[in-house]
Amino acid sequence: MGGDVEGNRPWWILTGGSRRLGRALAKGLALGHNLVLTSSRPWTDEDHWQTELSTETQVRTLRWDASDPGLVPQMMADLERLGAEGIRFQSAVLVAGTFPEQPFGSWTSASLQDTLAVNLAFPMLAAQALAPWIQDLGSLQLILDTAIHRPMQQRLPYSAAKAGLATLVPGLARLLAPRIRVAGHALGVMLPDEASSPDTLAELNLLKRNGTPEDLLRALRYVAESPYLTGEILTLDGGRRWA
Ligand SMILES: NC(=O)c1ccc[n+]([C@@H]2O[C@H](COP(=O)([O-])OP(=O)(O)OC[C@H]3O[C@@H](n4cnc5c(N)ncnc54)[C@H](OP(=O)(O)O)[C@@H]3O)[C@@H](O)[C@H]2O)c1
Repeated sequence: MGGDVEGNRPWWILTGGSRRLGRALAKGLALGHNLVLTSSRPWTDEDHWQTELSTETQVRTLRWDASDPGLVPQMMADLERLGAEGIRFQSAVLVAGTFPEQPFGSWTSASLQDTLAVNLAFPMLAAQALAPWIQDLGSLQLILDTAIHRPMQQRLPYSAAKAGLATLVPGLARLLAPRIRVAGHALGVMLPDEASSPDTLAELNLLKRNGTPEDLLRALRYVAESPYLTGEILTLDGGRRWA
């Protein structure tokens, strides 16, 4: 069922697998999977990555930049090349995104386009490119935000982009069924940015703690291992939306 060429380790692909949450997920997944990771930047530390991950993990790195006008043919060419090696994905996890503060009144055409390009158009294009390369009953998993339930006033363009992805989850589930399953994860705070106080953020949810990459890893694995689950969004926010 792994569809891989090296041993029985299933292949997973993570967009945005070089930094922060994507990097933490890659580290966790490396224990049992081979990985394809994308970044918008050149991969300069591949050797470092290889040693940081399990030595048994096969890792391929790709450069996919949401603002690249040649992105679609680039994605298709990269996936054809990996496909020719026999690589098929058990799961594709679309992590890449940005989190810009954009107060109402400051919006410009260019700033909105930037936010929507990374947070909405990029996952849509990646889903379209990846679908043929996901193995039967494999999963396409999109990373959303609990802002889909409670839009952030200072980050309304970001919240709107994630709400677009929330529509994409059941839409793609219908489009890609019965071969591929689709799920979303609406996250609360997992890795706060440096400007935020983790303790203050933790007080905002019912469980009084921030989430961790392990919380998300558990949910990603749950989706991957649940062949009767599709079209669902799991909210992992410590009950933030009910607080
Ligand atoms: N961190 C949290 O607590 C939290 C909470 C709720 C939701 N989320 C969601 O979880 C995901 C990851 O969060 P994060 O905090 O790790 O986000 P982040 O620090 O903003 O990093 C996001 C990823 O997106 C990639 N990226 C940035 N610009 C890109 C572009 N132009 N084209 C392609 N990729 C690009 C980055 O990789 P490169 O720079 O290497 O390209 C990076 O790996 C995001 O979708 C975010 O909305 C996170």
